[in-house]
Amino acid sequence: MVESTTTTSKDDIPSLMTAAHQNGYGEAGDVLTLAYEVPVPRQLSSNQILVRVYAASINPIDWKLLNGNLSLIIRPSFPHIPGKDVAGVVINVGSSVKRLKIGDQVYGNVHNDEGAYAEYVRGKESQFALKPNNLTMIEAAAIPLACETSYQALFTKTSPSVGPKSKVFICGGASATGWFAIQMAKAVGAHVATTCSQRNFSLMEKLGYKIIQDTNEINDDPQQLLVIDYNNKDFGEVLQGQNYDLVYDCVGGEQQWLAARRILKRGGQFITIAGDDPEASISLNTVFTLGPRLLSRKLGSVFGSSHHSYMFHMISTSYSELDHMRTAYFETGKVKLLIDTVFDWQKDGVQALHKLYEKSKSGKAQGKLILKIADE
Ligand SMILES: NC(=O)c1ccc[n+]([C@@H]2O[C@H](COP(=O)([O-])OP(=O)(O)OC[C@H]3O[C@@H](n4cnc5c(N)ncnc54)[C@H](OP(=O)(O)O)[C@@H]3O)[C@@H](O)[C@H]2O)c1
Repeated sequence: MVESTTTTSKDDIPSLMTAAHQNGYGEAGDVLTLAYEVPVPRQLSSNQILVRVYAASINPIDWKLLNGNLSLIIRPSFPHIPGKDVAGVVINVGSSVKRLKIGDQVYGNVHNDEGAYAEYVRGKESQFALKPNNLTMIEAAAIPLACETSYQALFTKTSPSVGPKSKVFICGGASATGWFAIQMAKAVGAHVATTCSQRNFSLMEKLGYKIIQDTNEINDDPQQLLVIDYNNKDFGEVLQGQNYDLVYDCVGGEQQWLAARRILKRGGQFITIAGDDPEASISLNTVFTLGPRLLSRKLGSVFGSSHHSYMFHMISTSYSELDHMRTAYFETGKVKLLIDTVFDWQKDGVQALHKLYEKSKSGKAQGKLILKIADE
Protein backbone atom coordinates (compact mmCIF):
# COMPACT_ATOMS: atom_id res chain seq x y z
CA MET A 1 0.00 0.00 0.00
CA VAL A 2 1.40 3.44 -0.96
CA GLU A 3 0.42 6.51 0.99
CA SER A 4 -0.03 9.66 -1.01
CA THR A 5 0.10 13.25 0.20
CA THR A 6 -1.33 16.25 -1.61
CA THR A 7 1.17 18.95 -2.48
CA THR A 8 -0.25 22.21 -3.75
CA SER A 9 2.66 24.64 -3.53
CA LYS A 10 6.45 24.68 -3.45
CA ASP A 11 6.35 25.28 0.30
CA ASP A 12 5.21 21.77 1.10
CA ILE A 13 7.25 19.72 -1.36
CA PRO A 14 8.45 16.65 0.54
CA SER A 15 12.03 15.48 0.31
CA LEU A 16 11.14 11.85 -0.54
CA MET A 17 8.63 10.30 -2.91
CA THR A 18 7.38 6.99 -4.26
CA ALA A 19 8.56 6.17 -7.77
CA ALA A 20 8.83 3.19 -10.11
CA HIS A 21 12.36 1.93 -10.58
CA GLN A 22 13.73 -0.01 -13.50
CA ASN A 23 16.69 -1.88 -12.05
CA GLY A 24 18.05 -3.58 -15.17
CA TYR A 25 16.90 -5.14 -18.44
CA GLY A 26 14.28 -7.88 -18.50
CA GLU A 27 10.58 -8.57 -17.99
CA ALA A 28 8.46 -6.09 -16.01
CA GLY A 29 7.93 -8.55 -13.15
CA ASP A 30 11.69 -9.04 -12.77
CA VAL A 31 13.10 -5.56 -13.20
CA LEU A 32 10.42 -3.09 -12.10
CA THR A 33 9.99 -2.23 -8.43
CA LEU A 34 8.33 0.52 -6.42
CA ALA A 35 10.80 2.55 -4.39
CA TYR A 36 9.38 4.50 -1.47
CA GLU A 37 12.26 6.76 -0.51
CA VAL A 38 13.37 8.36 -3.72
CA PRO A 39 14.63 11.95 -3.43
CA VAL A 40 12.21 14.45 -4.97
CA PRO A 41 14.09 16.31 -7.74
CA ARG A 42 13.81 19.70 -6.05
CA GLN A 43 16.72 21.52 -7.74
CA LEU A 44 15.59 23.10 -11.00
CA SER A 45 17.65 24.63 -13.75
CA SER A 46 16.31 27.89 -15.12
CA ASN A 47 14.16 26.30 -17.86
CA GLN A 48 12.73 23.44 -15.77
CA ILE A 49 9.50 22.93 -13.86
CA LEU A 50 8.57 20.49 -11.11
CA VAL A 51 5.24 18.72 -11.54
CA ARG A 52 3.20 16.87 -8.93
CA VAL A 53 2.08 13.84 -10.94
CA TYR A 54 -1.53 12.66 -10.79
CA ALA A 55 -1.56 10.21 -13.70
CA ALA A 56 0.76 8.74 -16.32
CA SER A 57 0.17 6.43 -19.26
CA ILE A 58 2.14 3.72 -21.01
CA ASN A 59 3.26 3.55 -24.64
CA PRO A 60 4.90 0.66 -26.50
CA ILE A 61 8.27 2.46 -26.27
CA ASP A 62 8.12 1.99 -22.47
CA TRP A 63 8.08 -1.82 -22.64
CA LYS A 64 10.43 -1.87 -25.63
CA LEU A 65 12.97 0.01 -23.50
CA LEU A 66 12.59 -2.52 -20.69
CA ASN A 67 14.25 -5.50 -22.35
CA GLY A 68 17.37 -3.67 -23.52
CA ASN A 69 16.69 -4.08 -27.25
CA LEU A 70 17.15 -0.35 -27.66
CA SER A 71 20.17 -0.08 -25.38
CA LEU A 72 22.41 0.84 -28.29
CA ILE A 73 20.47 4.03 -28.77
CA ILE A 74 18.93 4.79 -25.37
CA ARG A 75 21.04 3.73 -22.44
CA PRO A 76 19.41 4.57 -19.12
CA SER A 77 21.38 4.47 -15.90
CA PHE A 78 19.97 2.13 -13.25
CA PRO A 79 17.88 2.49 -11.23
CA HIS A 80 15.94 4.63 -13.60
CA ILE A 81 12.38 6.02 -13.39
CA PRO A 82 10.45 4.94 -16.50
CA GLY A 83 7.41 6.53 -18.14
CA LYS A 84 6.82 9.34 -20.61
CA ASP A 85 3.20 10.55 -20.70
CA VAL A 86 2.19 12.56 -17.67
CA ALA A 87 -0.49 14.86 -16.26
CA GLY A 88 -0.18 16.87 -13.08
CA VAL A 89 0.15 20.25 -11.39
CA VAL A 90 3.13 22.61 -11.59
CA ILE A 91 4.49 23.12 -8.09
CA ASN A 92 7.76 24.92 -8.80
CA VAL A 93 9.37 26.72 -11.73
CA GLY A 94 12.93 27.67 -12.74
CA SER A 95 13.99 31.30 -12.95
CA SER A 96 13.45 31.74 -16.70
CA VAL A 97 10.13 29.90 -16.91
CA LYS A 98 7.52 32.38 -18.20
CA ARG A 99 4.73 30.45 -19.92
CA LEU A 100 3.73 28.14 -17.06
CA LYS A 101 3.21 29.03 -13.41
CA ILE A 102 2.77 27.29 -10.07
CA GLY A 103 -0.73 25.78 -9.85
CA ASP A 104 -1.16 25.21 -13.61
CA GLN A 105 -2.60 21.84 -14.56
CA VAL A 106 -0.37 20.47 -17.30
CA TYR A 107 0.18 17.47 -19.54
CA GLY A 108 3.33 16.48 -21.34
CA ASN A 109 5.82 13.95 -22.56
CA VAL A 110 9.04 13.64 -20.58
CA HIS A 111 11.91 11.82 -22.18
CA ASN A 112 14.76 11.55 -19.76
CA ASP A 113 16.03 9.36 -16.93
CA GLU A 114 13.57 10.97 -14.54
CA GLY A 115 10.38 9.49 -15.95
CA ALA A 116 6.68 9.96 -15.36
CA TYR A 117 6.01 7.00 -13.05
CA ALA A 118 6.76 8.98 -9.91
CA GLU A 119 4.94 11.31 -7.53
CA TYR A 120 7.01 14.23 -8.82
CA VAL A 121 8.67 14.76 -12.16
CA ARG A 122 11.10 17.44 -13.25
CA GLY A 123 11.29 18.43 -16.90
CA LYS A 124 11.84 21.30 -19.27
CA GLU A 125 8.98 23.78 -19.49
CA SER A 126 8.97 23.06 -23.25
CA GLN A 127 7.88 19.44 -22.58
CA PHE A 128 4.60 20.58 -20.99
CA ALA A 129 1.48 22.52 -21.90
CA LEU A 130 -1.77 23.35 -20.13
CA LYS A 131 -3.93 20.24 -20.04
CA PRO A 132 -7.37 20.31 -21.70
CA ASN A 133 -9.65 21.90 -19.09
CA ASN A 134 -12.55 19.53 -19.81
CA LEU A 135 -10.50 16.40 -19.07
CA THR A 136 -9.46 14.70 -15.85
CA MET A 137 -5.81 14.06 -15.11
CA ILE A 138 -6.34 10.41 -16.02
CA GLU A 139 -7.78 11.38 -19.40
CA ALA A 140 -5.11 14.00 -20.09
CA ALA A 141 -2.31 11.53 -19.38
CA ALA A 142 -3.60 9.35 -22.22
CA ILE A 143 -2.85 11.95 -24.86
CA PRO A 144 0.65 13.36 -25.31
CA LEU A 145 2.96 10.85 -27.03
CA ALA A 146 0.48 8.94 -29.17
CA CYS A 147 -1.62 11.92 -30.19
CA GLU A 148 1.29 14.24 -30.92
CA THR A 149 3.04 11.58 -33.01
CA SER A 150 -0.09 11.28 -35.14
CA TYR A 151 -0.63 15.03 -35.23
CA GLN A 152 2.85 15.47 -36.66
CA ALA A 153 2.44 12.60 -39.14
CA LEU A 154 -0.79 14.07 -40.53
CA PHE A 155 -0.13 17.78 -40.38
CA THR A 156 3.52 18.75 -40.09
CA LYS A 157 5.57 16.00 -41.72
CA THR A 158 3.44 15.49 -44.80
CA SER A 159 3.22 17.95 -47.64
CA PRO A 160 0.57 18.81 -48.53
CA SER A 161 -0.77 18.10 -45.06
CA VAL A 162 -4.08 16.39 -44.46
CA GLY A 163 -7.08 18.66 -45.05
CA PRO A 164 -10.66 18.68 -46.31
CA LYS A 165 -11.31 15.85 -48.80
CA SER A 166 -7.83 14.31 -48.41
CA LYS A 167 -8.05 10.53 -48.73
CA VAL A 168 -6.21 9.02 -45.80
CA PHE A 169 -5.63 5.37 -44.99
CA ILE A 170 -4.52 4.51 -41.46
CA CYS A 171 -2.94 1.10 -40.79
CA GLY A 172 -3.92 0.03 -37.27
CA GLY A 173 -7.04 2.03 -36.37
CA ALA A 174 -7.35 0.31 -32.99
CA SER A 175 -3.90 1.45 -31.85
CA ALA A 176 -3.77 4.68 -29.85
CA THR A 177 -1.79 6.46 -32.55
CA GLY A 178 -4.36 5.07 -35.02
CA TRP A 179 -7.55 6.21 -33.29
CA PHE A 180 -6.11 9.63 -32.53
CA ALA A 181 -5.18 9.93 -36.21
CA ILE A 182 -8.61 8.80 -37.45
CA GLN A 183 -10.33 11.45 -35.35
CA MET A 184 -7.95 14.31 -36.18
CA ALA A 185 -8.08 13.54 -39.90
CA LYS A 186 -11.89 13.40 -39.78
CA ALA A 187 -12.00 16.64 -37.78
CA VAL A 188 -10.37 18.49 -40.69
CA GLY A 189 -12.73 16.91 -43.21
CA ALA A 190 -10.61 14.09 -44.64
CA HIS A 191 -12.02 10.81 -45.96
CA VAL A 192 -10.61 8.09 -43.72
CA ALA A 193 -10.31 4.32 -43.96
CA THR A 194 -8.47 2.00 -41.63
CA THR A 195 -7.60 -1.56 -40.68
CA CYS A 196 -8.51 -3.20 -37.39
CA SER A 197 -9.47 -6.62 -36.14
CA GLN A 198 -13.16 -7.52 -35.83
CA ARG A 199 -12.95 -7.47 -32.03
CA ASN A 200 -12.12 -3.77 -32.16
CA PHE A 201 -14.93 -2.65 -34.47
CA SER A 202 -16.81 -1.73 -31.29
CA LEU A 203 -14.02 0.72 -30.44
CA MET A 204 -14.62 2.60 -33.67
CA GLU A 205 -18.34 2.70 -32.81
CA LYS A 206 -17.52 4.07 -29.36
CA LEU A 207 -15.83 6.97 -31.14
CA GLY A 208 -19.17 7.62 -32.84
CA TYR A 209 -18.44 6.20 -36.30
CA LYS A 210 -20.78 4.20 -38.53
CA ILE A 211 -18.68 1.35 -39.80
CA ILE A 212 -18.85 0.22 -43.40
CA GLN A 213 -16.83 -2.62 -44.84
CA ASP A 214 -17.75 -2.29 -48.50
CA THR A 215 -16.38 0.46 -50.74
CA ASN A 216 -19.71 0.58 -52.60
CA GLU A 217 -21.33 2.01 -49.48
CA ILE A 218 -19.01 5.03 -49.30
CA ASN A 219 -20.92 8.33 -49.21
CA ASP A 220 -20.31 11.84 -47.85
CA ASP A 221 -21.48 11.13 -44.29
CA PRO A 222 -18.62 12.48 -42.13
CA GLN A 223 -19.36 9.87 -39.45
CA GLN A 224 -18.83 7.02 -41.87
CA LEU A 225 -15.63 4.99 -41.46
CA LEU A 226 -14.46 2.32 -43.87
CA VAL A 227 -12.88 -0.43 -41.78
CA ILE A 228 -11.06 -3.47 -43.15
CA ASP A 229 -10.59 -6.47 -40.91
CA TYR A 230 -6.94 -7.17 -41.69
CA ASN A 231 -7.24 -10.76 -40.47
CA ASN A 232 -9.59 -11.53 -43.34
CA LYS A 233 -8.65 -9.10 -46.09
CA ASP A 234 -5.60 -7.37 -47.52
CA PHE A 235 -6.35 -3.65 -47.68
CA GLY A 236 -4.12 -3.38 -50.75
CA GLU A 237 -6.39 -5.76 -52.60
CA VAL A 238 -9.67 -4.24 -51.37
CA LEU A 239 -8.63 -0.65 -52.16
CA GLN A 240 -6.36 -1.23 -55.15
CA GLY A 241 -6.29 1.86 -57.39
CA GLN A 242 -8.41 4.00 -55.04
CA ASN A 243 -5.88 6.86 -55.18
CA TYR A 244 -5.27 7.61 -51.53
CA ASP A 245 -3.26 10.77 -50.79
CA LEU A 246 -1.66 9.38 -47.65
CA VAL A 247 -1.10 6.05 -45.95
CA TYR A 248 -0.15 6.48 -42.28
CA ASP A 249 1.30 3.25 -40.87
CA CYS A 250 0.97 2.68 -37.11
CA VAL A 251 1.63 -1.09 -37.38
CA GLY A 252 4.95 -1.60 -39.17
CA GLY A 253 6.29 -4.31 -41.43
CA GLU A 254 6.71 -4.67 -45.16
CA GLN A 255 3.20 -6.07 -45.60
CA GLN A 256 1.78 -2.61 -44.84
CA TRP A 257 4.16 -1.00 -47.32
CA LEU A 258 3.33 -3.38 -50.14
CA ALA A 259 -0.40 -2.90 -49.63
CA ALA A 260 0.03 0.89 -49.31
CA ARG A 261 1.76 1.05 -52.68
CA ARG A 262 -1.32 -0.43 -54.33
CA ILE A 263 -3.73 2.15 -52.97
CA LEU A 264 -1.70 5.39 -53.13
CA LYS A 265 -2.20 7.85 -55.95
CA ARG A 266 0.77 8.91 -58.05
CA GLY A 267 2.64 11.41 -55.84
CA GLY A 268 0.91 10.00 -52.73
CA GLN A 269 2.74 9.82 -49.41
CA PHE A 270 3.55 6.91 -47.11
CA ILE A 271 4.59 7.68 -43.55
CA THR A 272 5.42 5.01 -40.99
CA ILE A 273 6.06 5.42 -37.26
CA ALA A 274 6.80 1.72 -36.79
CA GLY A 275 9.28 1.11 -39.59
CA ASP A 276 10.13 -2.24 -41.05
CA ASP A 277 9.31 -4.45 -38.10
CA PRO A 278 5.87 -4.82 -36.49
CA GLU A 279 7.67 -5.27 -33.16
CA ALA A 280 9.36 -1.96 -33.95
CA SER A 281 12.34 -2.45 -31.66
CA ILE A 282 14.52 -3.56 -34.53
CA SER A 283 13.36 -0.77 -36.77
CA LEU A 284 14.22 1.85 -34.17
CA ASN A 285 17.65 0.34 -33.82
CA THR A 286 17.94 0.35 -37.58
CA VAL A 287 17.04 4.00 -37.77
CA PHE A 288 19.45 5.13 -35.09
CA THR A 289 22.38 2.79 -35.32
CA LEU A 290 22.66 1.80 -38.93
CA GLY A 291 21.33 5.19 -39.92
CA PRO A 292 18.15 6.39 -41.55
CA ARG A 293 19.65 5.57 -44.93
CA LEU A 294 19.22 1.82 -44.45
CA LEU A 295 15.54 2.12 -43.60
CA SER A 296 15.16 4.61 -46.42
CA ARG A 297 16.80 2.16 -48.80
CA LYS A 298 14.37 -0.53 -47.65
CA LEU A 299 11.40 1.81 -48.06
CA GLY A 300 12.88 2.93 -51.37
CA SER A 301 13.01 -0.64 -52.64
CA VAL A 302 9.24 -0.81 -52.19
CA PHE A 303 8.18 2.73 -53.08
CA GLY A 304 11.11 4.03 -55.12
CA SER A 305 9.85 3.07 -58.54
CA SER A 306 6.22 3.84 -57.80
CA HIS A 307 6.23 7.66 -57.71
CA HIS A 308 5.30 7.81 -54.04
CA SER A 309 7.13 9.62 -51.26
CA TYR A 310 7.93 7.71 -48.11
CA MET A 311 9.35 8.43 -44.68
CA PHE A 312 9.89 7.11 -41.17
CA HIS A 313 8.67 9.58 -38.58
CA MET A 314 9.94 9.92 -35.02
CA ILE A 315 8.11 12.23 -32.60
CA SER A 316 9.71 15.44 -31.38
CA THR A 317 7.85 17.08 -28.50
CA SER A 318 6.58 20.62 -28.85
CA TYR A 319 4.46 22.46 -26.31
CA SER A 320 2.86 24.54 -29.07
CA GLU A 321 1.48 21.35 -30.65
CA LEU A 322 0.20 20.14 -27.28
CA ASP A 323 -1.48 23.56 -26.94
CA HIS A 324 -2.96 23.30 -30.41
CA MET A 325 -4.23 19.75 -29.81
CA ARG A 326 -5.86 20.98 -26.60
CA THR A 327 -7.78 23.85 -28.17
CA ALA A 328 -8.52 22.37 -31.60
CA TYR A 329 -9.38 18.79 -30.71
CA PHE A 330 -9.96 18.11 -27.02
CA GLU A 331 -11.66 21.20 -25.61
CA THR A 332 -13.91 21.22 -28.69
CA GLY A 333 -14.79 17.55 -28.13
CA LYS A 334 -13.73 16.69 -31.70
CA VAL A 335 -11.35 14.01 -30.47
CA LYS A 336 -12.53 11.51 -27.87
CA LEU A 337 -10.51 9.28 -25.62
CA LEU A 338 -10.58 5.55 -25.19
CA ILE A 339 -9.33 4.34 -21.84
CA ASP A 340 -9.06 0.61 -21.23
CA THR A 341 -7.85 0.32 -17.62
CA VAL A 342 -6.64 2.58 -14.85
CA PHE A 343 -4.02 0.83 -12.72
CA ASP A 344 -3.61 2.22 -9.21
CA TRP A 345 -0.40 1.71 -7.28
CA GLN A 346 -1.86 3.22 -4.09
CA LYS A 347 -4.28 0.29 -4.07
CA ASP A 348 -2.35 -2.54 -5.71
CA GLY A 349 1.29 -1.62 -5.12
CA VAL A 350 3.90 -2.90 -7.55
CA GLN A 351 1.36 -5.32 -9.11
CA ALA A 352 -0.31 -2.28 -10.70
CA LEU A 353 2.94 -1.44 -12.46
CA HIS A 354 3.58 -5.00 -13.63
CA LYS A 355 0.04 -5.37 -14.97
CA LEU A 356 0.31 -2.05 -16.79
CA TYR A 357 3.34 -3.29 -18.74
CA GLU A 358 1.97 -6.78 -19.31
CA LYS A 359 -1.31 -5.53 -20.72
CA SER A 360 0.35 -2.98 -23.00
CA LYS A 361 2.74 -5.62 -24.33
CA SER A 362 -0.11 -8.09 -24.90
CA GLY A 363 -1.61 -5.86 -27.62
CA LYS A 364 -5.06 -6.64 -26.18
CA ALA A 365 -5.82 -3.23 -24.68
CA GLN A 366 -8.84 -1.46 -26.11
CA GLY A 367 -7.78 2.08 -25.40
CA LYS A 368 -5.03 3.65 -23.37
CA LEU A 369 -3.68 2.13 -20.16
CA ILE A 370 -3.23 4.58 -17.33
CA LEU A 371 -1.24 4.55 -14.11
CA LYS A 372 -3.02 6.57 -11.45
CA ILE A 373 -0.49 8.10 -9.09
CA ALA A 374 -2.54 10.42 -6.87
CA ASP A 375 -6.22 11.16 -6.20
CA GLU A 376 -7.53 14.25 -7.95
N1 LIG B 1 8.03 6.76 -34.19
C1 LIG B 1 7.42 7.30 -33.14
O1 LIG B 1 7.71 8.44 -32.75
C2 LIG B 1 6.34 6.51 -32.44
C3 LIG B 1 5.49 7.15 -31.53
C4 LIG B 1 4.44 6.41 -30.96
C5 LIG B 1 4.29 5.05 -31.28
N2 LIG B 1 5.19 4.48 -32.14
C6 LIG B 1 5.04 3.06 -32.52
O2 LIG B 1 3.81 2.95 -33.22
C7 LIG B 1 3.21 1.68 -32.95
C8 LIG B 1 1.79 1.91 -32.42
O3 LIG B 1 1.86 2.55 -31.16
P1 LIG B 1 0.52 2.72 -30.29
O4 LIG B 1 0.86 3.36 -29.01
O5 LIG B 1 -0.51 3.30 -31.13
O6 LIG B 1 0.21 1.15 -30.03
P2 LIG B 1 -0.97 0.42 -29.25
O7 LIG B 1 -2.00 1.40 -28.84
O8 LIG B 1 -0.34 -0.44 -28.22
O9 LIG B 1 -1.57 -0.48 -30.45
C9 LIG B 1 -1.77 -1.82 -30.37
C10 LIG B 1 -2.88 -2.17 -31.37
O10 LIG B 1 -2.35 -2.34 -32.68
C11 LIG B 1 -3.28 -3.15 -33.43
N3 LIG B 1 -2.61 -3.97 -34.44
C12 LIG B 1 -1.64 -4.90 -34.23
N4 LIG B 1 -1.28 -5.47 -35.41
C13 LIG B 1 -2.05 -4.91 -36.37
C14 LIG B 1 -2.15 -5.08 -37.79
N5 LIG B 1 -1.38 -5.96 -38.45
N6 LIG B 1 -3.04 -4.31 -38.47
C15 LIG B 1 -3.83 -3.43 -37.82
N7 LIG B 1 -3.79 -3.22 -36.47
C16 LIG B 1 -2.90 -3.96 -35.76
C17 LIG B 1 -3.94 -4.04 -32.37
O11 LIG B 1 -5.33 -3.94 -32.54
P3 LIG B 1 -6.12 -5.16 -33.28
O12 LIG B 1 -6.54 -6.11 -32.19
O13 LIG B 1 -7.26 -4.48 -33.95
O14 LIG B 1 -5.16 -5.79 -34.20
C18 LIG B 1 -3.52 -3.46 -31.03
O15 LIG B 1 -4.65 -3.20 -30.20
C19 LIG B 1 4.14 0.99 -31.94
O16 LIG B 1 5.03 0.16 -32.65
C20 LIG B 1 4.92 2.15 -31.32
O17 LIG B 1 6.16 1.77 -30.81
C21 LIG B 1 6.19 5.16 -32.73
